Amino acid sequence: MHGTMSADIAIRARNVTLSLGSKDAMTSILKGIDLDIARGESVAILGPSGSGKSSLMAILSGIERASGGSVSVAGVDYTPLDEDALARARRGRIGIVLQSFHLLPTMTALENVAVPLELAGSNVAFTKAQEELTAVGLAHRLTHYPSQLSGGEQQRVAIARAMAPGPDIIFADEPTGNLDETTSHAIVDLIFARKASNGATLIIITHDPALADRCDRIIEMRDGAIVADRRTLAAAG
Ligand SMILES: Nc1ncnc2c1ncn2[C@@H]1O[C@H](COP(=O)(O)OP(=O)(O)OP(=O)(O)O)[C@@H](O)[C@H]1O
Ligand SMILES: [Mg+2]
Repeated sequence: MHGTMSADIAIRARNVTLSLGSKDAMTSILKGIDLDIARGESVAILGPSGSGKSSLMAILSGIERASGGSVSVAGVDYTPLDEDALARARRGRIGIVLQSFHLLPTMTALENVAVPLELAGSNVAFTKAQEELTAVGLAHRLTHYPSQLSGGEQQRVAIARAMAPGPDIIFADEPTGNLDETTSHAIVDLIFARKASNGATLIIITHDPALADRCDRIIEMRDGAIVADRRTLAAAG
């Protein structure tokens, strides 16, 4: 049982630490992170390069294991799970969008979205993928390969892929880091629109203060720790 874990909490981290490196040269990367993120909340993570933002996201999204402390996501305590159980817990619940889009170059836009759905057991993978690509404005690019798409279009495919399973939580690590200003704006609008239509929780790493202000809450990291955590005006409206 999860004891006091509330149904309204999407993510709970308690005293999370991460140390990497070899035995005689350990680097302490996360130094005791405590964090509760409510369901449906949008949270921006800001902080200097090397402060541990991506490392924290890797742990909260179950890509990487904490060295110490505990992490619960969508009501499931990740801490005691083995690799298989962790993979099952994450499947369909977590969507991830990264700065470099990580599309498979030998697959079309449609296949990039559909194949992961198919591997997860969906029997309507291609129909669903087409719907998702239509939702991100790419109905006319289904059979294009990544090399035939612009950066913004590739990121739209990555968003469609992340959203297709209907995840409870969307993680985005500098999703506009490789895009020009106009394209970035459109991509951010799209992420918020897809978040809203899915009722998902959003955690977004960014260096852009304007983007951070669109979130309900801004968390600032420095040197492996959270040094500020505040609600924005967006949270009120
Ligand atoms: N495998 C590793 N072994 C040792 N140190 C690592 C390893 N991976 C990351 N680090 C260190 O952990 C620290 C945090 O890295 P992280 O990628 O989380 O930072 P970040 O805040 O996302 O930075 P950026 O804004 O540049 O993306 C950095 O100092 C980095 O060098
Ligand atoms: Mg990073």
